[in-house]
Amino acid sequence: MISCQKDLFKIPDNIHYLNGAYMSPFLKIVEKAGHQAISKKCFPYQISGEDFFTNTNKLKQLFASFIDVEDYRNIAVIPSVSYGIASVANSIPLTKDDQILVVDEQFPSNIYSWQKLATKNHAKIVVSKSPKIEEGRGEKWNLDILQKINNNTKIVAIPQVHWSDGTLFDLVEIRKKANKVGAYLIIDGTQSVGAYPFSVKNIQPDALICAGYKWLLGPYSIGLAYFSDALCERGNPIEENWINRKNSEDFTGLVNYQDEYQPKSGRFNVGEMSNFHLTPMLIASLKQLTKWRPEIIQEYTKEISKEAIEKLQQLGCFIEDENYRGNHLFGIYLPNNTNINQLKTVLAKHNVFVSFRGNAVRVSPHLYNTKEDFEVLVSCFREVLFKKIRNVQ
Ligand SMILES: Cc1ncc(COP(=O)(O)O)c(C=O)c1O
Repeated sequence: MISCQKDLFKIPDNIHYLNGAYMSPFLKIVEKAGHQAISKKCFPYQISGEDFFTNTNKLKQLFASFIDVEDYRNIAVIPSVSYGIASVANSIPLTKDDQILVVDEQFPSNIYSWQKLATKNHAKIVVSKSPKIEEGRGEKWNLDILQKINNNTKIVAIPQVHWSDGTLFDLVEIRKKANKVGAYLIIDGTQSVGAYPFSVKNIQPDALICAGYKWLLGPYSIGLAYFSDALCERGNPIEENWINRKNSEDFTGLVNYQDEYQPKSGRFNVGEMSNFHLTPMLIASLKQLTKWRPEIIQEYTKEISKEAIEKLQQLGCFIEDENYRGNHLFGIYLPNNTNINQLKTVLAKHNVFVSFRGNAVRVSPHLYNTKEDFEVLVSCFREVLFKKIRNVQ
């Protein structure tokens, strides 16, 4: 197994940062790439016309290879998930009674555009509700999604893992069922891609939309998206910018206005896609992730968390079976009547950083964490849950 990689980050030893799903820390090399990139604009004469494309293409190539896509031109640079989802929603025609399938309490950036699209076309949002918190929950949830895909389903818009508790959705099976009824499969990969394996070849989504600042270990306000050839062809971008049009490389001919877009996903790039400051940072983090590989991150986070999970279960907490959740992101459901505020206080006192999402305490480790971080986490839970038992007695 890979060793702890904390040396590559700046997180202090007394901080137990189990919150990568909120925001990942920069690798030192990413911070350095950012400083260099910022300084470069002090000397704008060193930035050439080619530079508007070179690094962006490099970034797309790295991401394409990372998610198993042959042609980097299927990748677009986006500023946020909401932007990527809005671009897709603007490109899919719907008619009355069509259905868009989402999962319960899905992240809002993968909801609002669908709601708008549904309202405009008198279509319907169908929600696959999360089953009761008990053994077999993840399996039941996956079955429910498959059952809800029917001849009216036009779009299945879901994540790979649920953002609040890491429930894993079987995208290969969901794709098969979506294919049977001719539905689009649109994936928000923000909480998985980077830390959990994703192969476009295997899953064949119509679009994969990812923010960069979580598991891709990049900066805020830059993300990456894959769009299938079919979606690119009929794609209707939400803005019209010069760089997305044919021949934009030729700066002398920009006012020879073009009707055609750049090939494939070219039309979906955000304006100012060349973002000179953020692009080198995301390149640096993707290079490191390419060396590590998500499989290794899963193996490592599984190993450092497994004893803690057993102990938390003994304390009466519910944690999904490992086949139906990520190892890098999982929810701890507390026994009834647990004093959540007390737990928050105890965690803060011991410098343990997690998130509270819905009814789950969301824990999201990475290669900078160790078993010791989890031991401190468990001791905090123990302190609060034992108090609860004493209070009941
Ligand atoms: C699943 C998921 N998607 C998207 C986002 C971020 O969305 P946006 O880039 O639109 O701010 C988050 C942030 O927490 C998230 O958890």
